[in-house]
Amino acid sequence: MAVLLTGATGFLGCRILRALLAAGSAGTVGSAGTVGTDEPDEPVHVLGRGTPQELHARVEAAMAWLENPPPGPEALRRVRCFSADLTRPGLGLEPGERAQITDRLTSVWHCGAFLGLQSDPVTLYRTNVLGTRGVLELAQEAPAAHVLHVSTAFVAGRRHGVHVTEDDLSDAEGFHVSYEETKHTAERLIHAWCRRTGRAATILRPSLLITDRRVPDGLPDQPLGVLARLVENMLRINGDGTGGARILRGEAHGTAMTVRIPGDPAGSLNLVQADYAVDAMMRVMAHRATAGTGPGVHTVHVTHPHNTPVALVKSAFEARYSGTAVEIMPVIPFPTPMEAGVIANTTHLSAYTAQRRTYDRTHLRHAVDGLPDPSPIDRAYLLRAL
Ligand SMILES: NC(=O)c1ccc[n+]([C@@H]2O[C@H](COP(=O)([O-])OP(=O)(O)OC[C@H]3O[C@@H](n4cnc5c(N)ncnc54)[C@H](OP(=O)(O)O)[C@@H]3O)[C@@H](O)[C@H]2O)c1
Repeated sequence: MAVLLTGATGFLGCRILRALLAAGSAGTVGSAGTVGTDEPDEPVHVLGRGTPQELHARVEAAMAWLENPPPGPEALRRVRCFSADLTRPGLGLEPGERAQITDRLTSVWHCGAFLGLQSDPVTLYRTNVLGTRGVLELAQEAPAAHVLHVSTAFVAGRRHGVHVTEDDLSDAEGFHVSYEETKHTAERLIHAWCRRTGRAATILRPSLLITDRRVPDGLPDQPLGVLARLVENMLRINGDGTGGARILRGEAHGTAMTVRIPGDPAGSLNLVQADYAVDAMMRVMAHRATAGTGPGVHTVHVTHPHNTPVALVKSAFEARYSGTAVEIMPVIPFPTPMEAGVIANTTHLSAYTAQRRTYDRTHLRHAVDGLPDPSPIDRAYLLRAL
């Protein structure tokens, strides 16, 4: 038996790989409903860009950072890397490689995607929509494999102030960015594929993932970390004479610099701890296997039970960059060069903070029975994350 994983070099994918390797097998499900069997050498086929050697080195580096002590050579030997590109026909795989990958395949974890929220829509479409189609074509060559597709809670697009159910897949109000639209379309492809083939798939929809361990350079960062690096760069480049440098050195106090960020000051967003999300995903998969997977799609929100208020994120930013006063406002009049830089790189932030949306977790709770809810995301957690 074997498992396939795309996106293993990414922020979430490397954690899924860690969980698959930590299990007794490559993510198959034992009779007790636990992830794992007695076959410790089952391969995990990792599909990604670069040579197999480069891919292996990258996932190994991520594993070493995630796990202390890192997984031993035996676990890492189960990782078989294949050069593949989601944007290429047939994922760029040779027929011989496809046969090797699909042989005795039990699960297909499709986690790879392009997350460039403000990037070229064509690249987003090719990666997220055509890439998903390519993965489904490969899954079709492995009739016993269950497809687990990592989507996002943000497929709900522009719907504000609503409670979104897990069966909801509406595009009636459109999308903030092409990324959301491509992830929505990918979900539709999964539904169509299941209808056409009579196969089963699970769609996992995490909200914004977060960790309180700062990610070192060279490893895939979390969205909040990307925002923090952006602010740091702006402080370095445009930081109001020497003010920015003093803030970065931790020498400024009070309100040495005011930074206005577009957004809804009373808004909230759903953030969920990445480790909880992966644990939940593994349990969903185990539950799907033991409960029996009839044909069709089962969608699960992998979200936090409570949204994080924007005001809390603001307060954590102010504590992290002491001497900075952050003002969240819907529209910023006459932005400074630094503010203009932040605005240009985060045009979606304003709309996201105004979502005031909540996510139903009925399917999640049913599947992960016994898994405690994630701990609250408080100011201290956010501060560590930054
Ligand atoms: N991060 C979040 O907060 C979040 C929230 C909700 C849902 N999600 C979903 O979770 C999944 C993983 O996200 P992430 O945070 O791990 O993103 P990430 O860190 O940007 O990783 C993306 C992964 O996809 C791979 N990839 C991108 N383009 C590819 C291509 N053309 N061919 C092959 N592989 C390609 C990347 O490979 P390279 O290393 O070669 O670039 C990387 O392994 C995505 O499906 C995303 O939509 C993420």
